[in-house]
Amino acid sequence: MNHFDYRDGVMHAEDVALPTVAREVGTPVYVYSAATLRRHARVFREGLAGVPRKHLAYAIKANPNLAVLRVLADEGYGADVVSVGEMKRALAAGMAPADIVFSGVGKTRAELAAALDAGIGQFNLELEEEGVVLAALAAERGLAAPATLRVNPDVDAGTHAKISTGRRENKFGVPIDQAPAMFDRLAALRGLNLRGIAVHIGSQLFDLAPLEAAYVRIGELVGELRAAGHHITHVDLGGGLGVPYKAGDAPPSPADYGAMVARVTADWDAELMFEPGRVIAGNAGVLMTEVVWVKPGVVHPYVIVDAAMNDLARPALYDAWHDFAAVEPSGERMTANVAGPVCESGDTFAMGRDIDRVESGDLAVFRTAGAYGATMASTYNSRPLVPEVLVDGNRYAVVADRVAAEALIAAERVPEWLGG
Ligand code: LLP
Repeated sequence: MNHFDYRDGVMHAEDVALPTVAREVGTPVYVYSAATLRRHARVFREGLAGVPRKHLAYAIKANPNLAVLRVLADEGYGADVVSVGEMKRALAAGMAPADIVFSGVGKTRAELAAALDAGIGQFNLELEEEGVVLAALAAERGLAAPATLRVNPDVDAGTHAKISTGRRENKFGVPIDQAPAMFDRLAALRGLNLRGIAVHIGSQLFDLAPLEAAYVRIGELVGELRAAGHHITHVDLGGGLGVPYKAGDAPPSPADYGAMVARVTADWDAELMFEPGRVIAGNAGVLMTEVVWVKPGVVHPYVIVDAAMNDLARPALYDAWHDFAAVEPSGERMTANVAGPVCESGDTFAMGRDIDRVESGDLAVFRTAGAYGATMASTYNSRPLVPEVLVDGNRYAVVADRVAAEALIAAERVPEWLGG
């Protein structure tokens, strides 16, 4: 459910008519709904009602805008971060250091040190050497870093290969069969408070079975570690719940997911940690764009919009589907390709799709663009960095500026010897 609906034939974000935002801010522009973010945050939490002890860490990578983080912090969410940059955002948005989990396969030594100094709540270790380095950095500071070991359970999450992370050949986690011995060695280090296990098998998951299979394996591992004398108090179950992108998509609901988790983990006696990203932010945002031209094509016309693959990379990267809808639909339909202006054939959002009829100058949106949208934007083709707007009831604000070519050029320099 989201709050992007038509009123009197005009798409609104909550109580704000999208053409108003387009007039004031221009296009392309991401528009987020605070009510939708709050709703998703609550529905996810309520889905986990059967889990007595839990920590919710929003996966910032999905949408790291400060205003979005503030809304989620107010909902009691902490953060899952994968860089010091994301950690700084979480802190700037008012999240407590103790509520921050640091994931990521390539945390640098400098990042580990910075996160220790900030006092973050947990490090999810991806390899043994990382644990050894973290322990040394923590011991120097007279600390014992709270940590889990991320294991790779070798299950196929059944999602797009580029967002699948839990198979043996993926770069993430340590092989589950090597985890007990590694845990023994790491737990002995003075600078480490190795207190649990973490797992995350992929994103945009539509099937609970692989998640359940992974969690069952984690449960067995926890039992084995306890039998070996380890004190396991935390298990991080990752994120990954899918969202509907098009009609007919039926991902498991947070309630279905929560019921499965409650059943599988009933006797774990540990604090469970969750890292939802897309399920919180995905349907809370649209990318609004203006039709520049409708260009006749050999098979179908090309609707050329002013948003491009640099603003929303998912279709080009993962062949992802984003619904395309007119902001003020006439009721007529057309079959068309929808493409951006970037000089690559891959800058295409839809091919041969049945869409609202649009003409040059019309506004339209790509739906379900709140997660992995603006955050993956670039300035390719020297296009301005896309701005972001947050709507909250009848209020709205620009929460990220459009970064125009002048600002990008100002950050570059021609060296002296070239006449600069
Ligand atoms: N935790 C970890 C360790 C992760 O790697 C991820 C996502 C999450 C949590 C959050 O997963 P979510 O709940 O959002 O599925 N750019 C891609 C998605 C990349 C996901 C990376 N990891 C896309 O646009 O589909």
